[in-house]
Parts: sequence; structure tokens; C-alpha cells
Amino acid sequence: MTRANKTKGLVAAAIAALVALPVVADENAKLIVNDEIEMITEAPAPDHMENMTIIRSGWTFRTKETQALQMDDFENPGMPAVDAAMDAWNTVEGTAGKACATCHEGPESMKGVRAVYPKWNEAAGEVRTLTMQINDCRTTNMGAEEWKYIAPEMVAMEALISMQSRGMPVNVAIDGPVQATWEQGKELYYTRFGQLELSCANCHEDNYDNLIRADHLSQGHINGFPVYRLKNTRLNAVHDRFRGCIRDTRGETFSVGSPEFVALELYVASRGNGLSVEGPSVRN
Ligand code: HEC
Ligand code: HEC
Repeated sequence: MTRANKTKGLVAAAIAALVALPVVADENAKLIVNDEIEMITEAPAPDHMENMTIIRSGWTFRTKETQALQMDDFENPGMPAVDAAMDAWNTVEGTAGKACATCHEGPESMKGVRAVYPKWNEAAGEVRTLTMQINDCRTTNMGAEEWKYIAPEMVAMEALISMQSRGMPVNVAIDGPVQATWEQGKELYYTRFGQLELSCANCHEDNYDNLIRADHLSQGHINGFPVYRLKNTRLNAVHDRFRGCIRDTRGETFSVGSPEFVALELYVASRGNGLSVEGPSVRN
């Protein structure tokens, strides 16, 4: 068997669980949250994507029941975490005696922020995820302890900040000072991981809309993050999901917050340019 054939065989085997279960998702449903916020769940693929013409939010791949949970904030199980983050926003912490609210007033001041992250920070000379920026404010501006990269407090704060941009199209920059990081992320996206030798693209580009282990494969966008997953009944961070997906290939994964995952986050975010910010969204 040639290597290429062997790989093909493995992909086929991994996707073999694509039994013909009925797909009960409603692809044509419209996502309007609270009868008010209209979400763009389908858009032309950004120019940089060579193999796709249409991009679709993960929401369009979910069942009607799961879709409904995201259409009303009273039903959305991610919202209690947002309330907790609201308290944290107003809580003074650290040696400087400040809260987020001291400098940023209400969380509405964060409108538009989620849509453009990860982004370049000129002063620090680095690509920053929203997580890194929040921790920088905590340490540098508040004299408080960092939150762990995917700690519940952190993910909840990201949900509160994401909410302020709901409905706005994702619009991360991919050129200028971030270009090298973006290229690195793209390379990772097409790298085969694990014993199954599967890349992100093998599943989310070549096989979206198929069923894998009875799960309806989406295009793997991150416009809905943080995501409340019915499976683990909590809000999930982007890097948490990346780690889980690589583990599913039986591969060694990078750690959350690693430069590799920061680069991958920038690249994956850019694949969703044009879809609405949905966080906190609901998935299975
Ligand atoms: C002492 C003042 C101060 C405090 C307290 C503070 N920040 Fe900031 N924050 C800043 C400054 C200054 C910036 C940079 C402003 C800019 O983007 O031009 C910033 C930027 C940000 C950004 C990026 C905004 C953007 O447009 O890219 C986020 C997100 C953020 N802060 C979140 C928080 C959160 C969450 C807290 C509380 C945990 C917090 N900040 C506490 C001063 C503060
Ligand atoms: C073996 C197939 C497989 C591989 C390889 C894989 N994933 Fe996934 N991924 C899934 C499944 C199954 C889900 C859950 C259903 C869905 O949303 O697609 C998922 C979900 C996701 C989601 C959540 C989407 C949402 O709307 O909530 C993201 C983001 C994601 N994957 C990114 C990645 C990235 C980045 C890689 C490469 C590091 C990767 N995946 C590799 C199978 C895979």
C-alpha cells in the first residue's frame, strides 16, 4: 500500500462511522436571537479560502431542539455564566484597587471587540487573543492574578465580551504584522495529526455535512465561541475545543494558550470572516 493510499484508507476508516442516520438539522432555519438580533449564519467564503465557496455557522448543523436554545437568551444555558462575569466586571481586585468597570465603564464599551480578535497588539509586538488581552489587563492594569487560560471565570468573561458584538460579522485581519502567524495557523490546519492522520481540513473542509460517530460535522468555525456544550454542560473555550479535536485523532496536542493554538485560532477565526459573532452559542 502506498502512503497516500494508506492515508486515504485511514480517513475512510475514521469516517466509516458515517452511517446513514437521518440528519435532523434544519439548514434553512434563520437565527434571530430574542426576535431581535439577526445573525448571518451563511456567507460567501473569504477570498483566502481556496477550497470552499460558502461558509456556514456551526448553528446550521445542529438539530432544531439545539438551535432553539440559542434563539432565546432565557433558554440559552450559557447565560448564567454571563451573569457571573457581570459581577466580576464590577468587582475590584488586585493591588491597584480597580475593577474592569473602573477603566472600561459598562461592558457595552466592548462592542465590536470580539469580531476583530485575535489581533495585533502594537505595544507588545504580538498577536493577542481576547484571553491574552484580558489577562494583560488583569496583571498590568489591575495588579491582579492571571486567570488560567480556560478557567471558568475567563471563559465567562469572554462570553460577556462576545455578547456585546452579537450579530456583527467576524472581521479579523490576516495581513500586515499578523501575516506570519496566520500562515503558521494555516499550515497547522492542514497538518495531519495523530494515529488517524487527520487534519482539521480532512474533517471540517472535506467532510462537513457528513455524520461522524453520529455527530453532524460542521465546518468548525469559532464565531460562536464561547460555546455552551450540552455534552459537558459548561461554556467551552476555543483552545479547549481544538485540544479535544486533536485528541480525537489520537494525537499529541498542543497546550491551551500555546503559540501554535494562538496561530491556529487566528487562522480559524479568519475562515469565519463574514459570519456573525454568536457567543455564547449552544452546541451539542
Ligand atoms: C487601569 C485600567 C484598566 C483596567 C482596570 C482594565 N483595563 Fe482593559 N484595557 C485598558 C487599556 C488602557 C486598554 C487598551 C485600550 C485600547 O485598546 O486602546 C484595555 C484594553 C482592553 C481590551 C481590548 C479592547 C480592544 O479594543 O482591543 C479588553 C478586551 C479589555 N481591556 C478587557 C478588560 C477586562 C475584562 C478587565 C477586567 C478584568 C479590564 N480590561 C481591566 C485598561 C484597563
Ligand atoms: C475526526 C474529525 C475531526 C478532526 C480531525 C477535527 N475535528 Fe473539529 N470537530 C469534529 C466534530 C465531530 C465536531 C462536533 C460537531 C461539529 O461542530 O462539527 C467538531 C467541532 C469543532 C469545532 C466547534 C464548531 C462549533 O460551531 O461549535 C471547532 C471550532 C473545531 N471542531 C475545530 C477543529 C480544528 C481547528 C481542528 C484541527 C486541529 C479540528 N477541529 C479537527 C471533528 C473533527
